[in-house]
Amino acid sequence: MIKNNLIFFKKNNVKYNDAFDLKEDLTIRIFKPTLLKLKPHKNKIFIYLFWYLFTFGKYKIIYVTNRDEKIVCYSHLLPKFFKFPFMAKQDLHMGPSWTDPNYRGQGIFTYVKSHTLQTFHNKGVAFWAIVEKDNYPSIRVQLKNGFEIVGTGAKSKLLGRYEITCLLPAPARQNHVESRDMRCH
Ligand SMILES: CC(C)(COP(=O)(O)OP(=O)(O)OC[C@H]1O[C@@H](n2cnc3c(N)ncnc32)[C@H](O)[C@@H]1OP(=O)(O)O)[C@@H](O)C(=O)NCCC(=O)NCCS
Repeated sequence: MIKNNLIFFKKNNVKYNDAFDLKEDLTIRIFKPTLLKLKPHKNKIFIYLFWYLFTFGKYKIIYVTNRDEKIVCYSHLLPKFFKFPFMAKQDLHMGPSWTDPNYRGQGIFTYVKSHTLQTFHNKGVAFWAIVEKDNYPSIRVQLKNGFEIVGTGAKSKLLGRYEITCLLPAPARQNHVESRDMRCH
């Protein structure tokens, strides 16, 4: 295993939520890749080629720019493929995500997440997110957006496949969300 400290979050029902907003000088955009342009920001190209192939070009990148067109936050949206065996065919995975350190703690990722949910929700689609247990800011954003903890698990060495190794019983999930108790029963 590469990582065995992961929390798996899921959100089934998306209700319209205007509780979060973006500052006026920031703009949110959704990027759809083509073979000629796989991403709008500087990052390792290999992972995007890999995603492009395995998602048949269906991944998206949601990004926020400032007035100078500088990217200050991005988040990926991936359909099911072999790395996410726990997802249903129509489900979507949110992440990985990043906010520029100078812009953190201003609610930008919270807004990006909420905006993505509103934009891509559809009947029967569940959204997933996988977060390391000690990543408090990211856990906080999932909880603020109404995600619930489904279980804990790991990322395998073999092509980075994610597995839920401990599934929480459904009634326990909400209690865990409220208490932020990450223990597995
Ligand atoms: C996780 C991350 C994307 C959050 O982005 P962000 O735009 O700062 O997120 P938001 O401002 O919307 O929300 C962060 C929440 O965590 C809190 N928080 C942020 N930094 C914190 C810290 N160091 N300690 C405690 N709380 C913190 C914020 O106060 C906020 O909660 P609040 O609204 O209740 O106050 C950003 O921290 C990041 O890029 N981290 C490095 C990469 C990473 O971990 N990506 C996620 C992988 S799943």
